Amino acid sequence: AEETVELRPLTVALIKPDAVADGKADDILAKLDDCGIDVVGKIETTLSREDAQTFYSQHQGTDFFLQLIDYMTSGPIIALALAAKKKGTDVVAQWRTLIGPKDVTIAKEEAPESLRAQFGSKDEEFKNALHGSDTSEHAARELAFFFPDFHKKRQATQPKTTRV
Ligand code: TYD
Repeated sequence: AEETVELRPLTVALIKPDAVADGKADDILAKLDDCGIDVVGKIETTLSREDAQTFYSQHQGTDFFLQLIDYMTSGPIIALALAAKKKGTDVVAQWRTLIGPKDVTIAKEEAPESLRAQFGSKDEEFKNALHGSDTSEHAARELAFFFPDFHKKRQATQPKTTRV
């Protein structure tokens, strides 16, 4: 039987080390169905410092960069490829809305139903349990990073375009 290639738009989520270590991954995964999200790819991995630095290269030079790299490499993470159940939904935006503000304190105040409010570490404003790609370009890059075979198959299935 031929393997089917997921062709819906995808976004990438990470269940970050704090949430995995605290045993929250199954509870998070269990909520996604009700949120209108299908999990189409799932891998557990531990980021090397080099990987984490590449992943968050846009934050290089900030005062929180080292702390962010320490955090993201502190233990296993779970990377997810997500698709919207509802056709025509912008899954990148949908997932960003579902996770809520990056600062857990603000998430709890302003978006108590958000996943970061529910699963972020207590009293650690930026240990926010979850990542979501912020644009479709970043989603494609992150998909290639965590799900390279998957990404290649999608590329191969899509109509060829000529680079000019
Ligand atoms: P960012 O890309 O701005 O947010 P998001 O994760 O919502 O895309 O920041 C990446 C991560 O960096 C964020 O999830 C938590 C961390 N961070 C800090 O530790 N301190 C900070 O001041 C900021 C802005 C982010």
